[in-house]
Formats: sequence, C-alpha cells, structure tokens
Amino acid sequence: MPTTTPPPLAGGTTGPAALRPLLDTVLTALHEGATLRDGPLPAGGPDTVAPRTRAAAHPLIPDHGTGPHHALATLVTALAAGAADPAHPHCTAHLHTPPLALAAAADLAASALNPSMDSWDQAPAASALEADLTTTLAAEIYPHTPSPDAVITTGGTEANQLALLLARERHGPVQTICGANAHHSIARAAWLLGLPTPITLPTPHGTLDPTALTNALTEHPRPHLVVATAGTTDTGAIDPLDTIADLCTTHGAELHIDAAYGGPLLLSPTHRTLLHGLHRAHSVTLDLHKLGWQPASAGLLAVPDHHHLTPLHHHAPYLNAGDDTEAGLPDLLGRSLRTTRRPDALKIAVTLHALGRDGLADLIDRTITTAHHLADLITTTPGLDLYQRPTISTVLFRPTGATDHTVATIRRTLLNRGHAVLGRTHTAGHLWFKATLLNPHTTPHDLRTLLDLVTHATTELLTPTTHPTESDTPR
Ligand SMILES: Cc1ncc(COP(=O)(O)O)c(C=O)c1O
Repeated sequence: MPTTTPPPLAGGTTGPAALRPLLDTVLTALHEGATLRDGPLPAGGPDTVAPRTRAAAHPLIPDHGTGPHHALATLVTALAAGAADPAHPHCTAHLHTPPLALAAAADLAASALNPSMDSWDQAPAASALEADLTTTLAAEIYPHTPSPDAVITTGGTEANQLALLLARERHGPVQTICGANAHHSIARAAWLLGLPTPITLPTPHGTLDPTALTNALTEHPRPHLVVATAGTTDTGAIDPLDTIADLCTTHGAELHIDAAYGGPLLLSPTHRTLLHGLHRAHSVTLDLHKLGWQPASAGLLAVPDHHHLTPLHHHAPYLNAGDDTEAGLPDLLGRSLRTTRRPDALKIAVTLHALGRDGLADLIDRTITTAHHLADLITTTPGLDLYQRPTISTVLFRPTGATDHTVATIRRTLLNRGHAVLGRTHTAGHLWFKATLLNPHTTPHDLRTLLDLVTHATTELLTPTTHPTESDTPR
C-alpha cells in the first residue's frame, strides 16, 4: 500500500475547499502573467515566446513533481504572459471572444463536476439543463415550429459538418452550393462526408448573389443544399437570407444558414431584423464563443423539428441500453457524434440567466456601436481607407495607396512588437486589416490608439530612414 495521500479531487463536499487555495494561485498567476505581458500579446514573435514557454514548462514530466502551487503558478503565469488576450482592446483579429468572467466561473464548475453528456447516469442534472437550453435556443431561431431542437457542438465547424451530414442522410449525396464568402469548414465537411465538392459562387460584393444562385440551382443536378452565411468570417456580411430561402423553396433545395457569428443578433431588438429569413433554414449554425462571450467551446446546430436529428441516434449498450431507455432514462448518445462531452450548456445557461435578454442585447448593441465608431474614426483619419460600413462588428481598413506587402508587413510588425493583433482579409483586389470587435469594454480612446499604432507603423515603414524590421521589439 502506498503511504502518500493522492492529490485532492475537485468534486464532492471536500473539492471546493481543495480548489479554493489552488484558485487563489491561479488567479494570482493570471494577474502576474497579464502584467508581465502588458499588452494584447507578447512581444518578440514565436522565436521569443516558444522558448520562454518551453523553459517555464521544462521538464514537462519531472522525476519528482513540483507540487500543485508551483506547477500552477509557473505554467499559468507563462501562458498568461504569452497569451494573445482578447480582453485587451487591441486584440481584435479574429472571432476570438473575450469570455465573460461569469461564464469562465461557470466553466470551472463544469470542470469540477465533470458531467459527461453521453449518458444520463453521468449527467443527471446537466442533461436536463442541456435539454432545456437547446430547445429554448432553438425556439429563438424557430419560433413558429412546434418542436425545434438543437445539439451542442464544439463550434461552427462541427455544426456545419452536422448540417451537411443531416442533409446527406435526408437526401443522399447532396450538391452543396455556397458563396465564396462561406466558411472553409463547409468545403471540408463535404470532403469529410464524401459529398461532391461544393459549387462555390463568386461573391464580389461580399454576399451570395441571388441571380448566380438561381443559375446554379437551375444548371446543376439535384439534390441541392444551399449554404448561406449570416455574418461572414472576412467582413461580417449577411447574405440575403429571405431571398435565398425563396429561391430554395422554388427550386426544391434545402437551406443551411451558417449564423456562427451573426446568430446572436436575434437577441437584440435593434439588430434582429438583419436576420430576416433565418427561421426558414433547415438547419442553423450558432456559435456562442463568438458574439456570445463564452469561453470555447459553445457551438450549436439548431433544427426546426427534433425529428431532423434522428440520423444521429446510435446504440451502445453500455450507455443507452434499450431497457434503460424504456424505463425512462434519457437517451443522450444521439445528441452528438462525440461520446464523452463537456457540459457546455452550463456556462451558456448561467450567462443567459445572469444577463437576461436586455443584458445580452446591451452587449451586442454596444459591440456594434463600437465597430461603427471605429469606422467613423477611420473615415476621418487622413491616410486610412475604410472598406465599408460594418454590418456586425467587423471593420476592414488599409493605409491609402499601400501595397498588399505593406499591409502584411505592418500587421506582422504590430504582432512582433506585441502592440496589436489585427487580422487580414483579401477582398476587392486588396489586402485589408481586419478588426473584429467583440470586446464590449473597448472605448473610443482604445480605438484611437489602435489606429495611431497603425498609422505610426505605416509612416515608419514608408519613411526610408526609420524603416522598421518585422522583428523590431522595442519593449
Ligand atoms: C462564419 C463561420 N462559420 C463557422 C466558423 C467555425 O467556427 P469554429 O471555429 O467555432 O469551429 C467560423 C469561425 O470563425 C465562422 O466565422
């Protein structure tokens, strides 16, 4: 018999007391790491960050453990010091949300309890909460159908895959038709599922063109699955959903709407009209780790009728024996293609409960207002061009007359200096900076300083005497 006591567990009545001092260490380390970083991301690029992180973690498996406080303090500090932190207002490249503190706290409870969502006997309450959450959110999208439902996914990619899978199960090898503005996961899903390569229609104006779609629906053999996007990754544009739904009805095509980004606009009375027609889709992707302020992951695929999810049903006697199901134990295995699954419903439910409709609408509206403010600032800043007014919260801009090479170099310079995380998008024949604003705390001053960083780096780059190098690390 070993004489030492094993480390304490997170659950049970003793777990919270064991967690409290560890959390204290973690929170101190998060603060210390963020202070050391002192910006949206660490300066120095991969050549600086990787060795520093490796050194902190070395050796990853020591012969004798360093103990929980040391390990937590060292690794959490290193990770926070080396993070691209979306809570910083200058970290705006991607649909990479700053999670709400309350959602992260709920996620801690999920980790401590560790329900696994593949069988009722591992998640008695969590499965009930998930069932309520999924039907409630599905009813937001499909308010007019009697039994809408949704499954929780790891994000938009998995939700899009499931959408194509369900369409294939209904109709056989469907021909996907989407715009060039669709997320890359659509083409990957078709590939993964053995479906024909999607027909990708050019979207020179950013959204799916109804005339081009009509032609494709007429020319190509059925069955068709049209994929529209409500909030494109590159510009945040929203396809004309209602018109596309009309065309799908006329041509007998199925419609999937990838609303990974734009879906939460439904909760804003001011902006929900942008999603007109969403409820007409056969399936809708939603992703609350984007405009929903959840830590990853928090995706959903919603359908108008729970029967649409039947193809996911699966039998594994150790998880959903027939007699258990007949005796009333909920059969959860068909709620995902995964088996072990985290209770992501908890953090989402806590957030909805804590903020309510008005609180969420306020977050969404603030974020969109911030994006418009950035667009205003760009238009009044000499030497910067705005691509177009934002539809949601994505703003594209570039220095007037700059080459694509200059834009790319400035982006990497700001990354290497640890000054800003801006994205990049190629559209309308040019490379643009992409700012995807998701931080509801961002102030007009933050936006001004972000633009100042860009214009300053541009001036440096274009002025031969002060030519910066991408690896400049002034901090
Ligand atoms: C429109 C759209 N759909 C799907 C995805 C994929 O989502 P995830 O990264 O959560 O898998 C993204 C990611 O940015 C997206 O922008």
